[in-house]
Amino acid sequence: MEFKDMVVVVAGGAGGIGANIAQGFAREGGITIILDSAEEEAQRVAREIESGGGKASVVVIDATKEEKVQDAIAGIAEKFGGIDVLVNSIGWNKVLPFMETPESIWYRSVELNLMVTVRLCKAVLPYMINQKFGRIINISSQQGRRAAPQAAPYAASKAAVISVTKSLAALTAEHNIRVNAVCPGVVDAGLTKQFMKDSPQYIEEMLPQTPMRRICQPEEVASVVMFLASEKSSYMTGQSLSADGGTVML
Ligand SMILES: NC(=O)c1ccc[n+]([C@@H]2O[C@H](COP(=O)([O-])OP(=O)(O)OC[C@H]3O[C@@H](n4cnc5c(N)ncnc54)[C@H](O)[C@@H]3O)[C@@H](O)[C@H]2O)c1
Repeated sequence: MEFKDMVVVVAGGAGGIGANIAQGFAREGGITIILDSAEEEAQRVAREIESGGGKASVVVIDATKEEKVQDAIAGIAEKFGGIDVLVNSIGWNKVLPFMETPESIWYRSVELNLMVTVRLCKAVLPYMINQKFGRIINISSQQGRRAAPQAAPYAASKAAVISVTKSLAALTAEHNIRVNAVCPGVVDAGLTKQFMKDSPQYIEEMLPQTPMRRICQPEEVASVVMFLASEKSSYMTGQSLSADGGTVML
């Protein structure tokens, strides 16, 4: 079991992608903590993990509140004796043409995609530095690597997540902490359902741009996240790996 007894915090672990990530780590022996504002969904994911023989706990907080994040992370570190892996899978998007996008949508996108990630990284790093071990994986997006005229605030905030990943990787490498990002394409998960409400033709428009001509399953994001948390990627930090069916080839 690759992550046996490692303490894994999955922020956004009640969501479509985050739940799969939490389940993946739990299957590999991780003690998974689902940190999310959606209590009912988080409890459901934890029950599923436990019914499969895995270990799971739930921490319900609104991650836009800095003090709550600090307290929650301190509580987890104290209860479980540290934090080994943090996965940042909280995210939000609103599809709107650029000229019709009010500033409030820009601020909310920056808050829920960038600042929540920054805040959680900042909260876990003292514990990871102290234990001289840590793995952080930030979920960015293919939209952070390309033009997204219908979702400019989302794309800009996801591009910023890639940038912060690099800065933190450089800052923390000497402490045996690795920080990487994953850039999924269109995933069969929560945010896509939201995109579809705003823009019903979204998948039809995206598929011709996707060489593999299908959308991504959440498990296909989880496996890349687990690779980046594992020793299989022991010489990788500051990287952003795409799981997008070949849409963006760097
Ligand atoms: N679904 C996609 O197609 C897709 C593609 C690329 C990247 N992503 C990224 O993957 C991540 C997960 O996406 P998803 O599709 O699973 O979305 P989702 O909406 O299913 O999951 C997001 C989770 O974050 C939680 N959350 C939101 N605001 C919060 C807050 N303030 N405090 C605590 N928790 C909060 C939600 O309750 C939810 O459980 C996001 O960062 C998203 O941007 C998704």
